Amino acid sequence: MASSHTIILFALLQLPFYGVLSRTNATCPGPCQCFSITTMICSDDQMMALPADIPPQVRTLIVVASSVGAVAFREEVHLTKLVLLNNPVNMVSSHAFEQLTGLEELEISGSPLMAIESGAFQTLCKLSTLLLNNNKLKILPPGILDVLQRLQTLQLRGNGLQYLGTKHLHNLHNLQHLDLSFNQLPSATLQLRILSLRGNQVTNLPQGIFTQLKSLEELNLRDNRVSELSAGVFPGSLKKLVLRGNGLVQLPSTAFGDLRYLTHLDLSHNRLSTIPAELLQNLSSLEYFSISANQISELHGTSFQGLLNLKTIHLQANNLSFLEADLFKDQEEMSRLFLSRNRLQSLPYGFFESFGIESLVQLHDNPWHCNCSLLYLREWLEYSSGAVEEVSQILCFSPEPVRGKRLASLGKDQLVCTNSSEAKSRDDATGPTDVEISTSAASKTKHCSLQDINGTLVIKCRLMKCSNLKVETHFHLVDGSTFTHMQTAKWPKHTQCLSGTVTLTV
Ligand SMILES: *[C@@H]1O[C@H](CO)[C@@H](O)[C@H](O)[C@H]1NC(C)=O
Ligand SMILES: *[C@@H]1O[C@H](CO)[C@@H](O)[C@H](O)[C@H]1NC(C)=O
Ligand SMILES: *[C@@H]1O[C@H](CO)[C@@H](O)[C@H](O)[C@H]1NC(C)=O
Ligand SMILES: *[C@@H]1O[C@H](CO)[C@@H](O)[C@H](O)[C@H]1NC(C)=O
Ligand SMILES: *[C@@H]1O[C@H](CO)[C@@H](O)[C@H](O)[C@H]1NC(C)=O
Ligand SMILES: *[C@@H]1O[C@H](CO)[C@@H](O)[C@H](O)[C@H]1NC(C)=O
Repeated sequence: MASSHTIILFALLQLPFYGVLSRTNATCPGPCQCFSITTMICSDDQMMALPADIPPQVRTLIVVASSVGAVAFREEVHLTKLVLLNNPVNMVSSHAFEQLTGLEELEISGSPLMAIESGAFQTLCKLSTLLLNNNKLKILPPGILDVLQRLQTLQLRGNGLQYLGTKHLHNLHNLQHLDLSFNQLPSATLQLRILSLRGNQVTNLPQGIFTQLKSLEELNLRDNRVSELSAGVFPGSLKKLVLRGNGLVQLPSTAFGDLRYLTHLDLSHNRLSTIPAELLQNLSSLEYFSISANQISELHGTSFQGLLNLKTIHLQANNLSFLEADLFKDQEEMSRLFLSRNRLQSLPYGFFESFGIESLVQLHDNPWHCNCSLLYLREWLEYSSGAVEEVSQILCFSPEPVRGKRLASLGKDQLVCTNSSEAKSRDDATGPTDVEISTSAASKTKHCSLQDINGTLVIKCRLMKCSNLKVETHFHLVDGSTFTHMQTAKWPKHTQCLSGTVTLTV
């Protein structure tokens, strides 16, 4: 009987097999075996009590399938690890561990254990691992875990636990791993609100892993190795979710389902190159969103649609070269936007529409192309000077004449689209080449292009102000005569004033 247990044990404990051959013949008491000087294993169903004469050098004691019913040591032992598997222990008294002040790991599993007296763990202030799996615990005395300030791992799998509250866990400041699976905890009584698994080796989050934690509000998975997320894995009660520093490469659009209470989502320092347009769709409470230090090269124009409470967005240190004008149109509360360290050359007209004067924006370390299209940004910098951090680091990367210059230091007449050719390239039709668009002082806020569409000359102007446009065309005919044509384009009624193009056909 004893030997068959022993064989199972090798597999269970992954002891090297030569352990048997080098078994010490020293002072290993009773039915126990010493597979090394520091490890003692007892497995005998005739054994009624824990061994009395444990050699002083033994640090690990493992008792399996014995008839030991009580945890008691008569004299001080220097164990750092005690494992009791499948023994008929049904109660742990308040004196059980008095002699074991150096214990770091304790496991009592597979026992009919129903009660642990309060104070039982009082001497175990070095304990880092406590495993109480597959027992019959229905309750834990309040405060019993309070002394275990170094505890990192707590497993209570497969008990009949009916209640576990914040009171039980509030002192476990170092707890990184908590396993409460297979209990009878009703949602309302499991009140764990904050769970940190930061800096572990978590690689995947299986479906249902958090389903018991119906009150969980903060989940910190920072610096793990999570590389994918499946839909519906996070409890709907979450308010703060940190996935910073994992290996996320892509996300399914339903990764965050409808976490409608989520206010804080941190996806920074991953390897995402894009996010699905609907990813944040249901996160209507979101206030803080970070996806900095990824490889995002594109953001869908509707990514932040409907997120009316979003105040802070970290997009810095990505690969963005283009942003849509109305990307942030719903963020009327926006107060912080970080766009530094991307590949932006320009920002579209109207981009900062929803920004209050109090907002804070970072734009530096982008390869700005300082042509007439940056007039909008230049004006906005001036208008809301206090809002932009490191204005002096917003430098022109091109074109050549202004390369390396600070955008804010450039006069408005230095932001030019030198030729009609540059302006023309925006439109696909080829235009006449011998047409000049002269820029006068007044037209600095207007950008016009000229196209020849099947012989019809079309002037398209983008206006920075809501005003009617007056166009005067001077024709020089081959016979030397000239005539002038004047036309006024009315600003269309009911058009949103701030983003408009007026087209005139001459
Ligand atoms: C076993 O006992 C013998 C004699 O008592 C001793 O020489 C030997 O070193 C012991 N073996 C071990 C592994 O302690
Ligand atoms: C948003 O919530 C609805 C309703 O719960 C759900 O059907 C939909 O899949 C969710 N959208 C995303 C992107 O998760
Ligand atoms: C950045 O985006 C460009 C395309 O816009 C792509 O060619 C390049 O590989 C991206 N770089 C990284 C590091 O993702
Ligand atoms: C301006 O246009 C002329 C002809 O249309 C071209 O030769 C010249 O290279 C252009 N200059 C710049 C700076 O693009
Ligand atoms: C100014 O430069 C940007 C970035 O290269 C370009 O997209 C835009 O078309 C240019 N503007 C004009 C009016 O040519
Ligand atoms: C230009 O004319 C051709 C042939 O007459 C026609 O097929 C084409 O649609 C016209 N293009 C535009 C932009 O009107």
